[in-house]
Amino acid sequence: PLALANEWKAIHFKFDLWTGASVGDEADGALVRVNGIARRFPYQTNGDMRKALNAAKVRYNDMHLSHVAQNVRYGFFGDCDVAIVEAVCIREDGGIIPSTSVGNTPTYIHKAKKVIVEVNVSQPMSLVGMHDIYEPLDPPYRQPLPITGPGNRVGTPYIPCDPEKIVAIVPCDITDKTRPLAAIDDDAKAMSQHLIEFFQNEIKHGRLPKNLLPLQSGVGSVANAVISGLAQGPFTNLSIFTEVIQDGMFDLIDAGKVEVCSGTALSPSPDGLKRFYDNVDLYSKKIILRPQELSNSPELARRLGVIAMNTAIEFDIFGNVNSTHIMGSKMMNGIGGSGDFTRSAMLSIFTTPSTAKEGKISAFVPMVSHLDHSEHSVKVIITEYGVADLRGKSPIQRARCIIDNCVHPDYKPLLEEYLAMGIKGHTPQNLKCCFAFHEELAASGDMHNVDWSKYNK
Ligand code: COA
Repeated sequence: PLALANEWKAIHFKFDLWTGASVGDEADGALVRVNGIARRFPYQTNGDMRKALNAAKVRYNDMHLSHVAQNVRYGFFGDCDVAIVEAVCIREDGGIIPSTSVGNTPTYIHKAKKVIVEVNVSQPMSLVGMHDIYEPLDPPYRQPLPITGPGNRVGTPYIPCDPEKIVAIVPCDITDKTRPLAAIDDDAKAMSQHLIEFFQNEIKHGRLPKNLLPLQSGVGSVANAVISGLAQGPFTNLSIFTEVIQDGMFDLIDAGKVEVCSGTALSPSPDGLKRFYDNVDLYSKKIILRPQELSNSPELARRLGVIAMNTAIEFDIFGNVNSTHIMGSKMMNGIGGSGDFTRSAMLSIFTTPSTAKEGKISAFVPMVSHLDHSEHSVKVIITEYGVADLRGKSPIQRARCIIDNCVHPDYKPLLEEYLAMGIKGHTPQNLKCCFAFHEELAASGDMHNVDWSKYNK
């Protein structure tokens, strides 16, 4: 992709960029800066790409990651012309051993007319054997996915590829440029502690085994900090069934708490990546990398009883969640795998700081400005203040539980007043007032300034 970006002036056309999920600046950043991308899917985290898609210069298709491979096989997005794949090595029969991510690569290779393989010599050969590649058939021929535990291996350690399709093999020694993760602060420590206590209570009541159920942990600094905190917790013999593996998972493995960690890609910080390579022999024994059609499979999340733990941008007091849009219109990253897991998990937990931007934004508002996960899928919310266990509660009970346990003290009175407006109905939503928090943020830059009398006329 970097070479393409450098040649762009001579190329004169735009193409679609399809990936597993987020990729480095060498792909998203370099190509979008030369205005080379027409359509992008399914997920991104790049600042320049974010600007371009929010300016509608790139058509972005934000979708559940578990859906992508099947949609590509069905041809919903057109043909896959060229697959560019990073490999550790290639077998004589054309089989490709990928490096630290699998994503949708098996399907892209299967559907592509041409394959270009970048053999990256900076990637250690000890990655060979870490992968478990299996591509399901599409309906009506699909069989049950043959995984009954996070450690099951069901496929091949390489991606099958017809050697006739390989049009170029490019040696490469460019190392991965990953994104830093924020330092673990007191709020994150408090959230981890609440999570540990919540799990202990679930064990006490016989709803979880002592080693919990397979854990999924979302992307970003907050999710990373929370999972890292479990390394100080009392739980051992843990299993992980997740999409991306960030630094916090290495903390758990280093603490000797993990039996097996199944995911689709590593997404560590630069320090985390160095740590991975320095101890690759240890980590490669614990980690299995699979296609994201398996790592994010709703069928498997439901069968294994996964505990899904994700982060979001905004929540409403009735339990609806916005994971993607700032103020309802500006895309941050995308839904990624959060919906795959949240909807199908045995327990879906969201962890979030109670405020953003030095307290001027409350993470809890009367109505989310964009909906990714509905009240029907969200079971537990945790902030630095505590745990809202929403299971079995009506909308009004959920609102009380969230306000009492999770909302920042500055915003509790405002949200209590909202509930006390005496709105009738099963979900007491006042459509004249529900976006007052957002209106006030747009007008004065601070949600503290909400005055209901201005809106409730
Ligand atoms: N309004 C405006 N901005 C907000 C906000 C709100 N309600 N809540 C958070 N933000 C801002 C933060 O201030 C921060 O801004 P900055 O980049 O300028 O510092 C940014 O959003 C990211 O927030 P942060 O608290 O650092 O969170 P994070 O790194 O943990 O990421 C998500 C949080 C929600 C963006 C991230 O988890 C995500 O993309 N989730 C969707 C995909 C997903 O869940 N995948 C999991 C699949 S396995």
